[in-house]
Amino acid sequence: MHNFKLTAQQRTALLTDMRAKMKQQPHILGESFKLHLASKAEIIEAAQKLGLDAASYGTPAGATAPAMPKPKPAIQAQPIAKAEAVSEMGDWAKSSGLEEQADGILQQPYADLRGSIMEMLSEKTDLQAKLASRPADNVVAMPVASAPAIEVPDVNEHVQHVEETGTVKAGKIFRGLNVDWDIPVYNDTRAPAVDPNYVPDPKLAHAFLSVARRAVPLPMLFFGPAGTGKSSLPRYFAGQTGRSFWNITVSDDTTVDDFFGGFQVRGGTTYWSDGLLLKAVRQPRAVILIDEVSRARPDVLVALNGILQDREYIVPQTGESIAVAEGVQIMLADNTNGRGDASGLYAGAKQMDSSLLSRCAIKLHFGYPSKSQESRVLRQRSNAPKAFCDSLVDFMSICRKAHDRGEAPTLTVSLRESTNIALMVMDGMDPSEVVHWVIGNALEAVDQETLTQLFNTNVNPDEWLALSKGETWTPPADEGDAEKQTDGDEDEMPFN
Ligand SMILES: Nc1ncnc2c1ncn2[C@@H]1O[C@H](COP(=O)(O)OP(=O)(O)OP(=O)(O)O)[C@@H](O)[C@H]1O
Ligand SMILES: [Mg+2]
Repeated sequence: MHNFKLTAQQRTALLTDMRAKMKQQPHILGESFKLHLASKAEIIEAAQKLGLDAASYGTPAGATAPAMPKPKPAIQAQPIAKAEAVSEMGDWAKSSGLEEQADGILQQPYADLRGSIMEMLSEKTDLQAKLASRPADNVVAMPVASAPAIEVPDVNEHVQHVEETGTVKAGKIFRGLNVDWDIPVYNDTRAPAVDPNYVPDPKLAHAFLSVARRAVPLPMLFFGPAGTGKSSLPRYFAGQTGRSFWNITVSDDTTVDDFFGGFQVRGGTTYWSDGLLLKAVRQPRAVILIDEVSRARPDVLVALNGILQDREYIVPQTGESIAVAEGVQIMLADNTNGRGDASGLYAGAKQMDSSLLSRCAIKLHFGYPSKSQESRVLRQRSNAPKAFCDSLVDFMSICRKAHDRGEAPTLTVSLRESTNIALMVMDGMDPSEVVHWVIGNALEAVDQETLTQLFNTNVNPDEWLALSKGETWTPPADEGDAEKQTDGDEDEMPFN
């Protein structure tokens, strides 16, 4: 009677039926019988008393247990990154190389995943077909295309190690500056060449150096008309002190990614790429001029504010902080003082945020040089005789006054123009044509007429040619008559 085996399931089935019978007829076994404490023999005996054949629930000794219906495997969520290749799907993913790439992508920081997945989807793998033909099973897998590893550019690649190599007196950097400051000199090999013809304005140089020589230099704003030396001053300083110089111009089209940086995806790899400004601020001792800053988009200005205030840039996507390197000097330059442009000369100039302006320790106005300064620069640049340079500078001054009186709004002439005129007249060209080529052709029609009148009234081309050759000029005795003869002759008039 005991010659049979009970598997766990068979035993459970027998005990379930016995409990049901014990409930219906409790008196048969009595209260003292504890089913859960009973031995196999006691269970078989008790089952018999209850009218059940225990042997019919079991398997005869020596026989194999009947196959029980297998429960369907529950669908399991696999931790994807650690998923083992447990089925044909695994083999398929392995052979296609996708499994490897998926693993690579899953190692990336969260912020990189989107870029990688977008890149993966854009690749020319027939993903749809592969998905349709994959074996159906309960394994969650991620088919991805295989991609070659790429060399991610190092953001510090261009950063040069610079050291202080000595000091130079402030008055030696800026001739005419009467202060006894020792200014450190560095050895950045990319420092710009020093312009030997640069003529400093001692007042501007004094204010500039007072800020630039601080241990943590504060930003500055340089503003003034085109060609007045806003870029020349910091470039000259960088050249004299062995620091790199970065002139970065902003426009309406400059995005935050262009200027600060962004994530790029190549060959399935997502990596950070510095924008123009971040590249510059990583370089210790760099002198950085951000030109035309009032044209910048609002989101660029907001991010710039952070750099100027805290000397660090927080990457919005990751929260990572990129610090401005030691001794970096940042300047903003603009034709306007940050309050917009009423003259109409500087299209695109917007009002700058007050907080941005207040970050700038000083707001330096750059105007046109004095007559003697301009004449000196012209002599140095063109080797022209002093008398010719003085006469040319007088004419420049007449043009600027006409502009300031509102007679010719587009007539702005800087050292750029006077230098070019001096060089071309020295090359023997007709002064009236030269003035037309260098200045007139870029003006509005009505201002061209004003320039013509100013030239005809104030300049004698023959005199300029003679002075440029170092000859003394004496007006011919019959000059008045000759002028009368050509008066009204259109062909003889300049600027027609
Ligand atoms: N102090 C100076 N000594 C000698 N040359 C100068 C001086 N200042 C400016 N220049 C010359 O004048 C020209 C214009 O100067 P610069 O480019 O610095 O002007 P800018 O104010 O930056 O003009 P923009 O507003 O157009 O950017 C350059 O050729 C420069 O060499
Ligand atoms: Mg400039």
